Amino acid sequence: MTDMQKIAADVRALMTTDKSGHGFDHVERVCRLAQKLAMVEKADEQTVTLAALLHDCDDYKLVGEEAAAKMTNARRIMAANGVAEERQQEVLEIIASMGYSKCMRGIRPRTLAGKIVSDADMLDAMGACGIVRCLQFALDRCNKFGAPVFDAATLPDPDMSVEEYKKPNRKNDNFINHFFEKLLKLHHLLLTPAAREEGEKRHRLMVAFLRGFFAEQELDDWLAYLENFLREEDARAAGNAADGRQSA
Ligand code: ADP
Ligand code: NI
Repeated sequence: MTDMQKIAADVRALMTTDKSGHGFDHVERVCRLAQKLAMVEKADEQTVTLAALLHDCDDYKLVGEEAAAKMTNARRIMAANGVAEERQQEVLEIIASMGYSKCMRGIRPRTLAGKIVSDADMLDAMGACGIVRCLQFALDRCNKFGAPVFDAATLPDPDMSVEEYKKPNRKNDNFINHFFEKLLKLHHLLLTPAAREEGEKRHRLMVAFLRGFFAEQELDDWLAYLENFLREEDARAAGNAADGRQSA
């Protein structure tokens, strides 16, 4: 076994029990996507692979806020497998700079390798795999709290604060609302050109799914809500891009 295979085995051992869309299958898909992006962008494959393998093993939802901030599992696994100190620091910096809730706080990856792993992680929350993971998460919540998968009377809250977003049992949280609260915003948060291209495909697939879901049930107010949301998100992203150009 190579060192990378040993690290993968250690991560797998940590993540096999998860049923909320955070299992090792997610890590494997993120690794593959990140390696593809690294080839296109000519980034360091070792750093990208390591960060992709280790990016969720200290997630706050799995280990709590304190252990997440310390990145205990990532440090332990890298040290146990002889990863050079400099590379360890690079990987820890990447992990500390990615994730949607950190992005809500304005924390974004700085290095090319970090941008690639963040993009791969976000891409796996989108498209067909993203829909399945979101449903897995919602069903897990349903088992724990009896929360519904969809409630036509409960509108999403796309502008909520990061503190609200991180509450484990928010009142309007459900499978469908999560698209408006996170998944439909991700395509504007991708940082590398190849990921943006793939992200647009995955975004369109999620939009088609939601249009079908609402149309089949003749939920005209939800159809209108979706179209309005998409228009506003695009206008907001165009505004942000223009602001970026002005301040550059
Ligand atoms: P990632 O590992 O991609 O950074 P998260 O850690 O935020 O994503 O969540 C893991 C998976 O569960 C993702 O696919 C995400 O969209 C989904 N998820 C997170 N929060 C919710 C929620 N409140 N309702 C439904 N799905 C969710
Ligand atoms: Ni992830």
